[in-house]
Amino acid sequence: MNILVINGPNLNLLGVREPDTYGRETLEEINQWLESQPEAEGHTLKFFQSNHEGEIIDTIHSDRDWADGIIINPAAFTHYSYAIRDAIAAVGIPTVEVHLSDISKREDFRKHSVIEAVCVGQVMGLGKASYLEGLKRLLRVEREV
Ligand code: DQA
Repeated sequence: MNILVINGPNLNLLGVREPDTYGRETLEEINQWLESQPEAEGHTLKFFQSNHEGEIIDTIHSDRDWADGIIINPAAFTHYSYAIRDAIAAVGIPTVEVHLSDISKREDFRKHSVIEAVCVGQVMGLGKASYLEGLKRLLRVEREV
């Protein structure tokens, strides 16, 4: 499977950004860890991070013929980007939404995701393991098709 792993705004600062909430590992370290997991073997992972909504949408569009699955941590866009939601719905690629923290137990504005409804799954609160769980869900969906 070709899997596009997208990270949204401020996740480029992982490692220094609110480490008590998001951990001390950098995004690069998390990406390398994910790629080295046994579950990733035999699959191609492509990593993309942007602080810009339009760039995330452009990547979803431009990789639509390449990607068989998407793992996305939309970061703050989770809570209000109808444009990213529409992009995921438009390409029809199985997508799992992931979060490092448990957004259901944080501020009220974080509790709602506008992205969730167009995804095949949502994983939160497991730190970097949320990405691995997201990958497992995608592989499961692929097997069920
Ligand atoms: C996050 C949770 C979001 O509410 C927040 O805006 C982020 C990170 C997470 O991974 O826990 O930037 O998506």
